[in-house]
Amino acid sequence: MSDSSTLTMTHKTGAYEIRVGQNLLDSVAGLLSSIGASGPIGIISNATVNELYGGSIREALSQAAFVTRTILIPEGEEYKTLASAEQVMSALIAQGMERSGTILTLGGGVVTDLGGFVASILYRGVKLVHIPTTLLSMVDAAVGGKTGVNHSSGKNLIGSFYQPDLVVMDVKTLETMQPRDRISGYAEMLKMGVIRDTSYLEFLVDHMDECLAAESTDILIQAIARSCELKAEVVEADEKEADLRRILNFGHTLGHAIESTLGYGVVRHGEAVILGMYGAGWLSNQVGDLSLEDWDKLSAMLRRIPLEFPQKSLNPEAIELATRLDKKVANSQLNFVLLHHLGEAYMQTGIPAVMIKLAVDAIRTAWEGRE
Ligand SMILES: NC(=O)c1ccc[n+]([C@@H]2O[C@H](COP(=O)([O-])OP(=O)(O)OC[C@H]3O[C@@H](n4cnc5c(N)ncnc54)[C@H](O)[C@@H]3O)[C@@H](O)[C@H]2O)c1
Repeated sequence: MSDSSTLTMTHKTGAYEIRVGQNLLDSVAGLLSSIGASGPIGIISNATVNELYGGSIREALSQAAFVTRTILIPEGEEYKTLASAEQVMSALIAQGMERSGTILTLGGGVVTDLGGFVASILYRGVKLVHIPTTLLSMVDAAVGGKTGVNHSSGKNLIGSFYQPDLVVMDVKTLETMQPRDRISGYAEMLKMGVIRDTSYLEFLVDHMDECLAAESTDILIQAIARSCELKAEVVEADEKEADLRRILNFGHTLGHAIESTLGYGVVRHGEAVILGMYGAGWLSNQVGDLSLEDWDKLSAMLRRIPLEFPQKSLNPEAIELATRLDKKVANSQLNFVLLHHLGEAYMQTGIPAVMIKLAVDAIRTAWEGRE
């Protein structure tokens, strides 16, 4: 089995490579040269990730005669704001960032979302390279071209579609991640299998331990690469989320509602998505045509994932209300992604509030009393 993988993501105006492998940070200077980067490199990161990986990247770049500027954003989702983006741009401009320069994001989804947004508007757009360092940012945030920041009224309300020129995923960086963040990324890979590819889903279930372990293995490379490939197929067909791309929100309608009612610090995004997938699967069986056999398989695999947070505080009324505030409410219709069967998802509107509350009850029943 290969210890690295290169995928090509095509989009309306071109294509870019996604490299997945071990020790790729060592080759970052060559990879930047391969996309024609020549001006200053503005590295956007946070203190934790910069401390771990920033030094070696800067050294490799300076040996190849690249000039770098490093701008750190404070750690946490609450700093993924327009104000932070403005501060980053002010610092880059003050430090001589040029139109010919390249933004290099180094971090999790908060950094890749904010850095990608900055790259899309600074000087009306500069080259962009993502180096995602969490599993979730590798399989989701850094692939597909959505960038953005939060607004006081909701998450990701301000942003742009802006494709990177290159994405470098060094699985070695995942070895320093927190276990709960790893579960969050695993959830997004599982989602891709549930909505698009049952053999991949089985692969992920068979290799859950390797995907959640601290060691970076070839299995993990394979799992990440396939998840990106599946996301690429969907995004290439519907870059700006007019239709097909919305199936990527499977588990996210309830997931976002659970996140917002429990509080963003209490539950990780992917943890909430696991519960949201459970609720959406339950609804697919109750109001849609998902067979009992597929529902049993899905519920068993989701319940095997070791989640740690106070699920008992899930409140069906509050969560149902929060789904109605979700951004997927269009023309007063709440869109839910449901499953015809494992591997095939579709959009469904008009699910009654009472069924949504019952879905939350089903989640509570499934998780209550579990360690
Ligand atoms: N653009 C998209 O399509 C898209 C898709 C999914 C999620 N997102 C966004 O991604 C964000 C969540 O991303 P996340 O889960 O990566 O969270 P995150 O960026 O907050 O990172 C989680 C934590 O891990 C730390 N960290 C990062 N890499 C590390 C490493 N290698 N070792 C040790 N610690 C490390 C970070 O400092 C942070 O404390 C959200 O803002 C979400 O909206 C965007």
